[in-house]
Amino acid sequence: MAVPLPEQSMHGQWSSRWTFILAATGAAVGLGNIWKFPYLTGENGGSAFVLVYIVCVAALGIPLMMSEILLGRRGRSTPINSMCVLSAETKTSQWWQIIGWSGTVAGMLILSYYSVIGGWTLAYIFKSGMGTFSGASGEIAASTFSEFVGSPGTLFLWHTIFMVITMSIVAGGVQGGLEKAVQYLMPTLFFLLLVMVGYSMTTGFFGKGLAFLFTPDFSKLSGASMLTAMGQAFFSLSLGMGTIMIYGSYVPKGTSIASTSVAIALADTGVALLAGMAIFPIVFANGMEPGSGPGLIFQTLPVAFGNMTGGIAFGSLFFILLLVAAWTSSISLIEPLVTWLIETYGMSRITASLCSGLATWLLGLGTVFSFNIWKEVTLFDLNFFELLDFLTSNIMLPLGGILIAVFAGWLMKVELTKSELNIQNPTAYLIWQTLVRYIAPVAVFIVLLKSVGIL
Ligand code: PFF
Repeated sequence: MAVPLPEQSMHGQWSSRWTFILAATGAAVGLGNIWKFPYLTGENGGSAFVLVYIVCVAALGIPLMMSEILLGRRGRSTPINSMCVLSAETKTSQWWQIIGWSGTVAGMLILSYYSVIGGWTLAYIFKSGMGTFSGASGEIAASTFSEFVGSPGTLFLWHTIFMVITMSIVAGGVQGGLEKAVQYLMPTLFFLLLVMVGYSMTTGFFGKGLAFLFTPDFSKLSGASMLTAMGQAFFSLSLGMGTIMIYGSYVPKGTSIASTSVAIALADTGVALLAGMAIFPIVFANGMEPGSGPGLIFQTLPVAFGNMTGGIAFGSLFFILLLVAAWTSSISLIEPLVTWLIETYGMSRITASLCSGLATWLLGLGTVFSFNIWKEVTLFDLNFFELLDFLTSNIMLPLGGILIAVFAGWLMKVELTKSELNIQNPTAYLIWQTLVRYIAPVAVFIVLLKSVGIL
């Protein structure tokens, strides 16, 4: 006889659907929306990239997020152990644990470079607060940035500080406190972004910024940029690596998985689009290059802060809130590894955090150096940071996503997914099923093949 699955995770349960939405949005909204989305959009020619990104969020992101929450709620454990339970329940191969493994490793790999950029954010709080950007032109902001990233010692220091604070939060188990703070800080960040969009309207280049983002020019779209747009959809929604599975494992039964997923995706995409609308008018107004890469927001936003009234306070506050957003995401990146070490080896939370943190920090040094002394050290034309980002966002997360889709769509019993998802409307269920069974795996596959030039 099948052993009934636990109704609740051993690590607890969300008090309501609302706390779950907030926590998952906290994990989803981060550097990916405000730092990465604008620079990828700039590098990939703008509007057509944005369109593919939005289509991927709607057609792949939402159904996959539903599947991931579903697997987590059914398995009620860390991604690796949840997949172990679920493969036993569905009588499929234990190999399905690979979903959990690849996600846990991807989380650590992503955090190793995420922490370096988190360190930049930390440094920019101080730079803004000290008035470094008062009256700054685009050129000054750009040279301040290149001097900053050109110094390995400086980046090493900020990366270390970011990592120590992140792992202390994880080790101390004070995520709860942080999540409560996020209830107020996230809406404030959203409001500040709106103010920035308001500032951009005064630059005289708002129309040009909007056209760059929203008037599709398909001539700019290549297989590689489609892959990047898809990878960014996964990255931004934190999909394909088990984070959402862990969060889903704390979701009470009866919560509507569909409407929750839509709410998270809307909030996440909204923040990314606002960031784009704030940044590109400043880029054009100052004659900057939209495709200037990972430094884009650190070169553009300071110009705005330096030239607006109250810009010193406003700029520091903006980077503080971005830092908090980065922390909530960082915690969710390393949580699968930490909880797995605790569950499997019986380690204490402190030891597990120390081991995971140390390994991640060490790996992060590769990214630190890829902005200066290892800048020219490349493999397939990509430096260490670019390679790590490509491997995780564009390969590991989409492949993890396909496996999750196949597992939820093909291997779990229809009655089971129906009752777990709790979708009353049969057409809505059929849409979800078609998307995860056919559309998602085929689409991801086509984009992967296209990007390597096979299609
Ligand atoms: N979604 C986060 C961001 O946009 O910054 C990054 C991230 C967090 C990716 C957690 C993956 C993840 F599991």
